[in-house]
Amino acid sequence: CRIAVLISGNGSNLQALIDRFQNEQHVQIAVVVSNKADAFGLERARRAGIPTKVVPNRSFDTREAFDAALMAAIDQHEVNLVVLAGFMRILTPGFVQHYSGRMLNIHPSLLPKYQGLNTHQRALDAGDKVHGVTVHFVTEELDGGPPVLQATVPVLEKDTADALAERVHVQEHLIYPLAVDWFARGRLAMRDDGCTLDGTLL
Ligand code: GRF
Repeated sequence: CRIAVLISGNGSNLQALIDRFQNEQHVQIAVVVSNKADAFGLERARRAGIPTKVVPNRSFDTREAFDAALMAAIDQHEVNLVVLAGFMRILTPGFVQHYSGRMLNIHPSLLPKYQGLNTHQRALDAGDKVHGVTVHFVTEELDGGPPVLQATVPVLEKDTADALAERVHVQEHLIYPLAVDWFARGRLAMRDDGCTLDGTLL
């Protein structure tokens, strides 16, 4: 399975994928694409010998033009799966449809709770006792596609958003490679009413 990983920043999830699959045949990170030239994740990719591409969103007048350039950069590498790993751009419907059933995202909350930004602070403000992270297929609804896998973390007394984010990240690095592994082995598929793991509706 050839995958493209899309990033905008640090790329710790990218690193988890690199570490998990570098000695495996069934998943190959074909390209890492960033909309930011200074994303540290690009450095992680280079160190691992993975081709990188920067598509700066600021160079494009419209979202459609940016997404078309992004699509061209990805499709050139003939990938089976697009993995969003801290990619901080909202994608157009045309882009999402192009990769329908072939694009995963990781979102730092227990979806459907806290779609969008500042999830850790919002969980704290709400007084939640449990927080977490979700891997889901990407559909046109922002952070709304069928969930594949979730992990929970406890919210501790006197927790801060940063401390909570760090605890969530540990879980992210465990579940994202797992979901990609399932997809690569043909165990995971998106359907109209959700998604399936080895035939079982999740
Ligand atoms: C993660 O918290 C992920 O859930 C969210 O963006 C962040 C990316 O972190 N979508 P990193 O760049 O992988 O370290």
